[in-house]
Amino acid sequence: MTDIAEETPEQAGGETGAAIEALYLEERRFDPPPSFREQALVTDRSLYEQAEADWVGFWEAQARELDWFEPWEKALEWELPFAKWFVGGKLNVSHNCLDRHVAAGLGSRIAYYFEGEPGDRRTITYADLLADVQRFANVLQSLGVRRGDRVGIYMPMIPELPVAMLACARIGAAHSVVFGGFSPDALRDRMNDAEARVLVTADGGWRRGSVVHLKGNVDAALTEAPCVEHVVVVRRTGDEGGGPAPMVPGRDHWWHELMAAAEPSCDAAHLDSEELLYLLYTSGTTAKPKGIMHTTGGYLTHVASTHRYVFDLHPERDVYWCAADIGWVTGHSYIVYGPLANGATSVLYEGTPDFPDKDRWWSIIERYGVTTLYCAPTAIRTFMKWGSEYPGRHDLSSLKLLGSVGEPINPEAWMWYQEHIGGGRCPVVDTWWQTETGGIMISPLPGVTTCKPGSATFALPGIGAEVVDDAGRPVERGGGYLTLTRPWPGMLRGIYGDPERYRDTYWSRFEGRYFAGDGAKVDDDGYLWLLGRVDDVMNVSGHRVSTAEVESALVDHPAVAEAAVVGARDDTTGQAVVAFVTLKSGEEKSTERGEALRGHVAARIGPIARPKAVIFTDELPKTRSGKIMRRLLKDVADGRDLGDTTTLADPAVVEEIRKLAETRATEE
Ligand code: PRX
Repeated sequence: MTDIAEETPEQAGGETGAAIEALYLEERRFDPPPSFREQALVTDRSLYEQAEADWVGFWEAQARELDWFEPWEKALEWELPFAKWFVGGKLNVSHNCLDRHVAAGLGSRIAYYFEGEPGDRRTITYADLLADVQRFANVLQSLGVRRGDRVGIYMPMIPELPVAMLACARIGAAHSVVFGGFSPDALRDRMNDAEARVLVTADGGWRRGSVVHLKGNVDAALTEAPCVEHVVVVRRTGDEGGGPAPMVPGRDHWWHELMAAAEPSCDAAHLDSEELLYLLYTSGTTAKPKGIMHTTGGYLTHVASTHRYVFDLHPERDVYWCAADIGWVTGHSYIVYGPLANGATSVLYEGTPDFPDKDRWWSIIERYGVTTLYCAPTAIRTFMKWGSEYPGRHDLSSLKLLGSVGEPINPEAWMWYQEHIGGGRCPVVDTWWQTETGGIMISPLPGVTTCKPGSATFALPGIGAEVVDDAGRPVERGGGYLTLTRPWPGMLRGIYGDPERYRDTYWSRFEGRYFAGDGAKVDDDGYLWLLGRVDDVMNVSGHRVSTAEVESALVDHPAVAEAAVVGARDDTTGQAVVAFVTLKSGEEKSTERGEALRGHVAARIGPIARPKAVIFTDELPKTRSGKIMRRLLKDVADGRDLGDTTTLADPAVVEEIRKLAETRATEE
């Protein structure tokens, strides 16, 4: 099953003093393809220049693209670390996403092509969405929800999910969406922290051909969440999979029954620009999850503007697909709010990429003529592992632009995406941002920027990003810590109920700067390269080496599909590089192969980064949002006890890897 290659204890030593060393060199360049530029919204540096001349004024111009019931008096009020944007302005997010498009005669434009995992399809226009949102806003009010309240949402990827979110926004209640893959305990903690009064859910959802019983999880969670008075249940899976959990009289209500009885119209409330739009909890594995707060006017400005420019949106002809889950911030900003504010037509897909077969995504792209695909590197690497024959079965010629988000994208994954999905003709935008930033911060503009595979390139117009060293001094060339130097409209307004934690977490490490927690390097041309969380930096003989760079070097090898690298305790070198590697289908695991990979990393980056051990494994442990759990692999490599692994997508993977690592220990 496994073969492990170990290094003899010889490592180059020495101190360089760099905060994080930047060793990986990528020399490929990609200009915007001429056919893309010809039709692009932005083809020169004018937006950057406008923003540099007056960044607050730039954001004001972006905000003016929205409908405001009352104009703002002051664009930005900044009392570090607390920002208010468009102070005094009044608007409504659901009005901006729906009513104004319908009023402009676009009611029959398709907002979502919905495809359920079993193959059911629905086409939802802007007029349909507006009608449902108004009814559901009335349903929420009939259940006692008022402006300023919080509403929990725990649903599969079905159209009722954006309807519920927009209905909250319409009446000024904040939503708190909990990803449908989370456990009852996670749901309970989030409902209690937010003090949600109503929870919207479904009987179940479809995942890889089986029913996920969401309502059963809700019942378990609510035994210890007394704040929730009412539960609204969408009928999605019905009698399949053993049927729905019983309804609790007085507490539980069927969505379709309430909707049938609801009044059809509900005016959009005139909300203050700084009213809470939503809470979204970022899950730590140890500490209590943080309820990230996003408000109304600044957030919508940021997501609408970045969605338009980064994806070069032509709403009248594009079919846009962000394949994230709405339960994550990517889905909030780039499936719901950004695209709808811009009047875009999107795809909404419920299920997994390998049901019924590994070409499901490509069949969707062909069916709807998708022009823009936005997904995560973890998905791209999985597709690489499955092989290019699956996309090869379908006509993907409608695609014009590809995007990536969520993790550093290795140059080889970038290249594969560009070639096998984009047919070599689509720009690839690698977008860096966080739940906390609300919207995209660092990304190419696809008609302007020359891309380098694996680099998120530059801060977007209006955004200030700088890499600094340990002392907070800007680094002009080389590695360090990514910071943001000025407020931006989509920024988090705090952590719900905990302003001190907000200040400590983001604003205390470097004075006057937001610290993102990520390492980054600046290359000779000023391009930014994200190096992962700083907790993911290894210290090998005094050199701070980024796991992301070693992983990129491994994925660069033709046999490798995916790699996770950690620093394991080592008596000689402080930490030693240990690589967990998944090979492409059909590739052989052997000691020679391990040796070859170690040599490959040394050749690509330098002897300092040569892995001490290469452990082959069929899968890597990942969180449910698809990020590799390096911390867990580090525990495995160090032989430590593993704590709670329930936040993993597939806890069995860890057991498997632990066995492999034990084999390694006994072989040592
Ligand atoms: O480490 C960075 C990584 O994901 C973190 C934010 O995670 P989350 O709040 O879940 O939001 C993910 C979707 C926006 C960041 O601190 N990250 C996100 N995008 C990239 C990235 N790392 C490298 N390159 C990216 N494009």
